[in-house]
Amino acid sequence: MPATVIVGAQWGDEGKGKIVDLLAEHSDLVCRYNGGPNAGHTIVVDGETYKLRHFPSGILRGKECVIGAGCVVDPGLLIEELDELEARGVATDGVRLSGNAHLIMPWHPMIDRGGERRLGALQIGTTRRGIGPTYADKAFRLGIRVQDLLDPKILRAKIEVALAEKNVWLERVYGDEPLELEELAARLEGDAQRLRPYVADTSLLVDRALRDGRDVLLEGAHGTLLDLDHGTYPFVTSSNCVAGGAATGIGVGPTKIDAVVGVAKSYVTRVGEGPFPTEIDGPDQKRMRELGGEFGTVTGRQRRCGWLDLVALRYAARLNGFTSLALTKLDVLSHFAELPVCVRYRLPDGSETADFPAHQSDFHHARPVYELLHGWERPLDGAERLAALPPEARAYVYFVEQALGLDVDLVGTGRERERVLARD
Ligand code: IMP
Repeated sequence: MPATVIVGAQWGDEGKGKIVDLLAEHSDLVCRYNGGPNAGHTIVVDGETYKLRHFPSGILRGKECVIGAGCVVDPGLLIEELDELEARGVATDGVRLSGNAHLIMPWHPMIDRGGERRLGALQIGTTRRGIGPTYADKAFRLGIRVQDLLDPKILRAKIEVALAEKNVWLERVYGDEPLELEELAARLEGDAQRLRPYVADTSLLVDRALRDGRDVLLEGAHGTLLDLDHGTYPFVTSSNCVAGGAATGIGVGPTKIDAVVGVAKSYVTRVGEGPFPTEIDGPDQKRMRELGGEFGTVTGRQRRCGWLDLVALRYAARLNGFTSLALTKLDVLSHFAELPVCVRYRLPDGSETADFPAHQSDFHHARPVYELLHGWERPLDGAERLAALPPEARAYVYFVEQALGLDVDLVGTGRERERVLARD
């Protein structure tokens, strides 16, 4: 497939990195279209663990990689990530960074932290990376972009204009120390020297690749339910995670996209605050978290765990137009005798629905209606194809396919790169 979007179907952390890593083997170009260092992909290659933040997972396959205009970039963290990859022998000369991507400036994480502090019990539970404030400045047309790094005069002028306002906020609203222009401008000019070779017209580059018949993967960060417009607002991130965001975030027309692969965990996790109908109440919560290693890549926070939610997954299929599904971490369920799967929500008025509620209060109060499936209670290590899974595990996958009217083409059964089973 020339242009394939890979998108998280839940609240992020579905294991997209591993699926992208697998598909990247047969692709020419791998692009990230949204988000920034709030994302974290953990990929295990030959027993070595890599944690990626800005980069699409294809970098570990030595592929050309794009960070698109829809992304936000923290220059200091990006340089750290580049240095670390290079120190471990991963080539980074195929990286291309859109000049239109916005920069996370030092005041953005400060405002993110200050805002969360002020919200207190009502906080969103952000990653504190400055994501919301950066996208807010972009919409406010006050943002500083990657291309501003190429001209020290423009860069300095923009920092000066921004600081005049940001320092008032930092001092008066959040009680922080103000930032100093000279020090900041000098630091950013240093970063600019390091990043300059990577800056490119990435929309043109992707368009050319597609015209040349090359295979392009467009990787979404986070997940559908964290999408700014269609997720569980306000407990969302500040970018468009859904597949449609790939067209705007990269700068290609939607008619160029050939396939959309949704990635869902075989259960559900969520970090941060917000409603979560299938969240497990009781000892299985801790058990699932430990079995699945459900701790955030970026923040180390515990992830909240829940049973598979087909109402939310059907919503994700609708919003993204999935052409197929990848189901990850099926092995984590090997330890449970019974597997509840949410097929409908019961709403406060007593009615039941298989459709995701359009109104926030209905969603906040929705109770899951479960169907109980049999567990398989044995490891999945031996299976090398989907057809070789234990019958109960195949029945679990089949149940999902029937509920969504979609093929599950890939199933993850372990941490390593090889442990993704494909349909025959
Ligand atoms: P922000 O993106 O840092 O502003 O955080 C907003 C919400 O999105 C919080 O609930 C975060 O925990 C969540 N979030 C952001 N990125 C990810 C991710 O990659 N995986 C899971 N949750 C995320």
